Formats: sequence, structure tokens, C-alpha cells
Amino acid sequence: MDLQQAVLLLLLLMMGRNGLCEPEEVCLKSGIESCSDCIRSGPHCAWCQQLSFSKRGEQEAVRCDTRAQLRQRGCQEEEILYPENTLNITMNKSLSTSFSQQDPVQISPQKVHLHLRPGLPTTFTVSFKRAEGYPVDLYYLMDLSYSMKDDLEKVKNLGTDLFKALEKITAYAQIGFGAFVDKTVLPYTNTNKDKLQKPCDEGEQFCQAAFGYRHVLSMTSDREEFRKIVGKQYISGNLDSPEGSLDAMMQAAICGMEVGWRNNSTRLLVLATDAGFHMAGDGKLAGILEPNDEQCHMKNNLYIQSSDMDYPSVGQLAIQLEKNNIQPIFAVTQNVQTVYKELSKMIPKSEVGVLSEDSRNVVQLIENAYNRLSSKVTVTHDNLPEDVRVEYTPLCKNGEPPSTSRGVCNEVLVGEEIYFNITVTASSCVGEEAFTIKLPGIRDTLAVSLSTDCECHCQDLDPDLAFEPGQDLDPDLASEPDLDLDPDLASEPDLALGL
Ligand SMILES: *[C@@H]1O[C@H](CO)[C@@H](O)[C@H](O)[C@H]1NC(C)=O
Ligand SMILES: *[C@@H]1O[C@H](CO)[C@@H](O)[C@H](O)[C@H]1NC(C)=O
Ligand SMILES: *[C@@H]1O[C@H](CO)[C@@H](O)[C@H](O)[C@H]1NC(C)=O
Ligand SMILES: *[C@@H]1O[C@H](CO)[C@@H](O)[C@H](O)[C@H]1NC(C)=O
Ligand SMILES: *[C@@H]1O[C@H](CO)[C@@H](O)[C@H](O)[C@H]1NC(C)=O
Repeated sequence: MDLQQAVLLLLLLMMGRNGLCEPEEVCLKSGIESCSDCIRSGPHCAWCQQLSFSKRGEQEAVRCDTRAQLRQRGCQEEEILYPENTLNITMNKSLSTSFSQQDPVQISPQKVHLHLRPGLPTTFTVSFKRAEGYPVDLYYLMDLSYSMKDDLEKVKNLGTDLFKALEKITAYAQIGFGAFVDKTVLPYTNTNKDKLQKPCDEGEQFCQAAFGYRHVLSMTSDREEFRKIVGKQYISGNLDSPEGSLDAMMQAAICGMEVGWRNNSTRLLVLATDAGFHMAGDGKLAGILEPNDEQCHMKNNLYIQSSDMDYPSVGQLAIQLEKNNIQPIFAVTQNVQTVYKELSKMIPKSEVGVLSEDSRNVVQLIENAYNRLSSKVTVTHDNLPEDVRVEYTPLCKNGEPPSTSRGVCNEVLVGEEIYFNITVTASSCVGEEAFTIKLPGIRDTLAVSLSTDCECHCQDLDPDLAFEPGQDLDPDLASEPDLDLDPDLASEPDLALGL
């Protein structure tokens, strides 16, 4: 059988797996001279180390075959070397039922080590349970362009209602506030000196100077502070319709110190606007060519690179939001709903809600969006090594079909325990590798480290001596210490297997 035929046969056999017939294990061997050649040549290949197994004149390769074949040819079970996958759970703290002041555990186990035979999949189960009362940080990022004038008046009195809504979720809620308009250069903003100072409509008494993004209130659990600080905000203005929303979201996401995101909290970023947004490339209109560097540039609560650096791309923003575990909620008016639905598709763990003309319904909107975000649990990975494949199978009532990129359970309740089967396969021999399994929007992770088993653990046996074709060794000799044999290994194959 030449190689092409062999590959074809393998394909046929693999296809058979999904059909009616039982999977049949095959071991395709070519150019096998040692046990490790054999082990590396396929996940179902085993090696018979029994002395005098190969007959006079036979190739060493006869020692390499499937376990069934070797048994059939008379190899003793304990003489068959067949390294199997091992799974070592190195950290398995039990799941917390509710949030207490300590760090709650929402995923179990937390660390595993896999020792894998290339091509042989291993499956383990992880469990997830959202801790009841887990803290929430909500940052209200508001468009203060002139058309949001009536919204601002509503939002000023919103603090109490927002806190009340969050209290249904947790006793540890915090709210912050930020505002944005757009870059203060043409063509986004009128740069006439007076207009920069007072960009609102004629006759507007309370108007603040044009600005890009301003951080107003760091995360606080003090409703009175929210009322006081946000109450002092004035409307502002600009020229064109789309706003610098992405600039503001980027800074709010990465300037953790300023905003005051806590480490152990569900982080929500509410973007309230009635207009579309500028994105990477639009800076060119103002001759701004420097791409967004995804760094924090806040000084005295103001984004100081606003007029020097381009808007971020949607991709850049999505990456930073995910990295910082922030889930955006787009609270937008009907007229721009479609635009933000498209944006939301490109940002994992985001939601869109329709804002009434004066933002009256924003609290209900946030509640609904939070419930949608938290009832859908997704598991995926970070930094997956090239030669490693992962498949997720959700084990829950409303799971989506198994997939290699992520596992999804829908309509999960707070406090409900759900499971995912995670199947890991290394496709070739690799060194020590590691990757992270994570649940976007949730801080808990599972650290997976892995190595591959590509060697036979029979190497202490002198191959010339042990496997010389046709040389019938006296079995007693094997235990003679003078012979370069490790007696433990020779007499206890289980140990040698590392099982
Ligand atoms: C499993 O992990 C424990 C603790 O880290 C370690 O002592 C043990 O040697 C590991 N076993 C294997 C087979 O890696
Ligand atoms: C982790 O520990 C829990 C008990 O705390 C146990 O039920 C579970 O089976 C363990 N998980 C694994 C994968 O060993
Ligand atoms: C957050 O987690 C750290 C450990 O990572 C813990 O020491 C701290 O108490 C937690 N903070 C809160 C507010 O729960
Ligand atoms: C999930 O994995 C376990 C092994 O950890 C296995 O016994 C079980 O059959 C798997 N369930 C599904 C539905 O794949
Ligand atoms: C929050 O987490 C980050 C990264 O995990 C860590 O560097 C930082 O020290 C933590 N901060 C606090 C206050 O625990």
C-alpha cells in the first residue's frame, strides 16, 4: 500500500465514524525502527516490547500495530506499550454559591495539566455557576452633543433609579459617569474661537466648551455624589452628525485607574447616544493620520490626544473591551438602532437597546440588556497553540451545537450550575504549551498547560539487546542487574508507561 492509498483508507475509515459502523482503530506504519517511531506514527499505534516477539528474519516494525492486532499475534497485555492521555487537575476550588467579600469561584476546575498523545483527544468537564450578588460596575458614557439636551435633564435625576435597579442584582453596585462629543477640529466641530467656547444653539444659557471625551465621575456607590456631580453637567455641541463615541469608549475601557473599574466585578459600559460614530480612517478628514495606539491618554479627566490621534477601529475597540472584561450596552435612539446592531455583532458580549427620545426608559433598558448578557454563557480560549485543537460541547438545557471556537449556553439562571465538555487534541509533538479557557465578561479562567507524550518509556532497555530480531533472550537475563536494564522498569510495565 503506498502512501496515497493509505491516506485514502484513513479518510474512509474516519468518515465511517460518523456512519453506522463502529470506529475502527488503525495504525499506519512506515519506516518504523523503534518504539518512539511507532508511538509517533499514530494515536492508535502500540508497541510490543515482549522479548522474542519478532520472529527470525522479521522487521522490527511488526512490534508496532494496534493493541488488538498485537494481542492477536500473541503479545502479552503487559508487554504492550501504549501511552495514554493523562489529565492532572492541579487546582480545583469548589464553586461559590454567593458573593461574599472573598473572591468567589465561578468556574471549576481552575488549573489542569494535560499530557497528550498526539492525535488522541482527551475530554474533561468544567462547571460554571454565576455567584449570586456578584458586584456590578456601571459606567454611563453619555453623548452631550446638543440634541441630547432633554436626555441630560432626565439622566441627572436617574442616579437613584439606576442604583435601585442594580440593587436587585447586587449589594455591591457602583456607577461612574463620562461624557463625549467629538474631536474639536474641523470638520467635526466649528473651530471659530467663540463657537469652540460655546458650541450650542444661540440663546442656550448653559453650554460647555467643545470637548472630545471627559471623565466626570469615578465609580462610586454614593447616590448623592452621582446626583451632585452629574447634575452640574452642561450640554455641549459640534457640527457633523456622527460623534467621537469610539474614542470615548476606548479611553473608558483602558483607563482603569481613572474610571475606577474594580477587579472583581461585572463591568458594564453604557453608551447613550442618538447619533452614529466616527471610526478609524475618518481622522483623515481633519488630516489626523496617526493611528489609535490603544493607550490611555487622560489628563485632568480629559482625553488629551483627541485631536492628534485617529479614532480606533471597531476591531481595536473590541479587543480592548474584551481584554478588560467590559460588556458594552448601546442605549441608542431608534434612528441609529441598525448601525449599532451591526456594531454589536462585531463586539462579543454587547447588547443594543432602544432609547426613548428623552432617555426616560434607560433604566429598564439597562436591566433588560444586563439580563440578556448574563443569561448567555460563552466559553472560549485565548492564545491557543498552533498544534492544539479544542472543541466545546455545552451540557445544559439550552446549549448551542458543539463547536471548535466556543461553547454557548443560553437562558442560564443566576445560581444555576452548567457544564461544558472540553475536548483537547494535540496534533503533533510539542513542548510545554499553555492556553487559557475563559468566559468573556467573567473574570474567572481555567489555565490549561499541556505537554505531549511522544516517547516510549522503555528506553532504558538496550534496544540492541532487547529487540535484536531472532535473538532469543533468556527471560531470566532480563532481571540480571549486570545487563543494562532497569529492573523496575522491566518487571513493572505499568510504571514504565507512566500510567
Ligand atoms: C499531578 O499533579 C501533582 C501536583 O501538582 C503532581 O505532584 C503529580 O506529579 C502530577 N502527576 C502527573 C502525572 O503529572
Ligand atoms: C472538583 O471538586 C469538586 C468538589 O469540590 C468535585 O465535585 C469535582 O468532581 C472536581 N472536579 C474534577 C474535575 O475533579
Ligand atoms: C477581589 O479579589 C481579590 C483577590 O483577587 C480579593 O483579595 C479582594 O478582596 C476582592 N475584592 C472584593 C471587593 O471582593
Ligand atoms: C463529557 O465528558 C465526560 C468525560 O469527562 C464523558 O464521560 C461524557 O460522556 C461527556 N458527555 C458528552 C455529552 O459528551
Ligand atoms: C487587578 O487585576 C490586575 C490584573 O489581574 C492586577 O494587576 C491588579 O493588581 C489588580 N488590582 C487589585 C486592586 O486587586
